[in-house]
Amino acid sequence: MDRPEPLICFRHVSKSFEGPPIIDGLDLEISRGSTTVILGPSGAGKSVTLKLMVGLLRPDSGEITFDGMPLNDLKESGLIDIRRRIGFLFQQGALFDSFTVLENIAFPMREHTNLDDTERRNQALEVLSMLGIPELIDRLPAELSGGQRKRVALARAIVLKPECLMYDEPTTGLDPIRSDVVAKRIQMLQQTLQPTSIVVTHDIPLAFKVADRMLLLNRGSVHFEGTPSDFENSQDPIVRNFLDGHAMDEDLLMTDGSAA
Ligand SMILES: Nc1ncnc2c1ncn2[C@@H]1O[C@H](COP(=O)(O)OP(=O)(O)O)[C@@H](O)[C@H]1O
Ligand SMILES: [Mg+2]
Repeated sequence: MDRPEPLICFRHVSKSFEGPPIIDGLDLEISRGSTTVILGPSGAGKSVTLKLMVGLLRPDSGEITFDGMPLNDLKESGLIDIRRRIGFLFQQGALFDSFTVLENIAFPMREHTNLDDTERRNQALEVLSMLGIPELIDRLPAELSGGQRKRVALARAIVLKPECLMYDEPTTGLDPIRSDVVAKRIQMLQQTLQPTSIVVTHDIPLAFKVADRMLLLNRGSVHFEGTPSDFENSQDPIVRNFLDGHAMDEDLLMTDGSAA
């Protein structure tokens, strides 16, 4: 049987800013309906990879397709159509401070749908209820805890029922217990919305809780990919260093200027 076409495909993609390439001949495939975790040290190009996937950055060379459509050939309006199908949780999931929770969640509905006020409120209530916080609908962001703000940002990302969800470092700055809450929430959304999910993280316990497949990004390309058990059993030194939390030479270089 033919394998279904991947939702997102990178072929020999490179991207540099000033200096050496951040993404360097990257090949990757994101299969539909599954959860792919992209791991990698800080600065490996994980966030850049997500931005390339949604056309917020353009590659210098190589081809990226979303649902078979080459992003390079699309104009901004085509990219907007693609972004409508994606729920994107940025690393700093910023809410609009002067908007209520409802207005924040209504924002993508105003941009992309013809729903009226009542329908928008009902949709917002539905996703807030899914996340256990319907009572916050009329609050302002300043009246929320950090965890509540993250949940509202998530509600906004899923309100259009996207077929693809992208999370950039969803547990940064959280203690292990709160991090586990985020993992459970990602699992709950996998079951209810059954999206294609991409989780960028360096939180190893989170990765093992949610991943169907994992990719380790290093120096701008995929160093290793496989199932969680392939990772667990790997003897590859870079994989082991990363999973076991040992600093690599380049980490030491970044912190104290010497690899010694
Ligand atoms: N818009 C940009 N302009 C210049 N440099 C950038 C830009 N975005 C990312 N970079 C650089 O690319 C590298 C990888 O960034 P990033 O993808 O954010 O890493 P991470 O894997 O930690 O998410 C970093 O060194 C960062 O400084
Ligand atoms: Mg990042």
